[in-house]
Amino acid sequence: MQFEIAIEGPLSAILALSHQLRNLSSEFETIQKTVGHKRGRGRIFLLETEKELLDDKLLRISRIIREIERSFSPEASIDIRVRNLSYSEPSIGDGQFARPFHPIPSIAVQPWTPSLAQPTDPGTILLDPEHAFGTGRHPTTQLCLQIMDLMANDTSLPQGLLGQEVLDFGCGTGLLALAAMSMGASRVVGVEIDPQSAKAAKRNVALNSLSHRIEIREGSWEVVQEKYQFVLANLVAAALIRTGRHIPYWVKEGGRVIVSGFGENQIDEMKGLFTDMGFIISQDLGLNGWGALAMELQG
Ligand SMILES: C[S@@+](CC[C@H](N)C(=O)[O-])C[C@H]1O[C@@H](n2cnc3c(N)ncnc32)[C@H](O)[C@@H]1O
Repeated sequence: MQFEIAIEGPLSAILALSHQLRNLSSEFETIQKTVGHKRGRGRIFLLETEKELLDDKLLRISRIIREIERSFSPEASIDIRVRNLSYSEPSIGDGQFARPFHPIPSIAVQPWTPSLAQPTDPGTILLDPEHAFGTGRHPTTQLCLQIMDLMANDTSLPQGLLGQEVLDFGCGTGLLALAAMSMGASRVVGVEIDPQSAKAAKRNVALNSLSHRIEIREGSWEVVQEKYQFVLANLVAAALIRTGRHIPYWVKEGGRVIVSGFGENQIDEMKGLFTDMGFIISQDLGLNGWGALAMELQG
């Protein structure tokens, strides 16, 4: 297995981190690939091939990041993203993905082809996944969709998703953002750190003629500017543990959050993490070894 750890933040903080990682251990020197910069921001990519070493490495990196964040200005927030490079979903070129399918009964995902007409059913989503995560076939995406659907139909919630503003953090192809819109959301902002995925999400939003109501922003928490009634975050566990601490700042009082991307065996750990942040867990679901939580921010 191969994991990519991508770390992004203000350029000066990233340069300091790169220097410290190199001084810390030769293992970081050999795996460090690039320090690039764009609009005053920097990125480092590290590769890890041993799954057993990943958590320990992430913890060590997180400790250094915390020190750097403390010694720089309060805005010097550094984000970390982990991608399992061995995992990929079927792409549009794959026969399996070429057929329309229902990740949940109320939503149909129609793979895009140039000859396809615009669907008239609001429950049909046109999707060209390119190389991004989010065809709707992965259990974590399906768990998020299941919970969104339950919320949309929950009569004890005054409006479900109807008329709500939604943040889809780590939007991949933009599928959850598009599904939220078809369930009645008024506006969705999708945030995606990976430039290729952000590009794919923008394209999918345009294919569904929703560019006026879904905005895709490339980046991480630094591009989130307002609080939301609904936040969706389907991220791998390590990224959720590290970056999930930002979630409460961007949720309105009484707002709802759906998180997924972790193993079913990590549900209790995740419940503890988010309860400590002030959330009340309303639901936990599992599917094929993957877990998801729905929760509400206490007033
Ligand atoms: C598991 S995929 C989920 C995609 C889609 N939301 C879905 O449910 O199918 C996680 C996505 O989050 C993105 N991501 C990971 N860490 C991030 C961060 N710190 N900020 C923004 N996006 C991030 C990844 O690039 C990836 O596209």
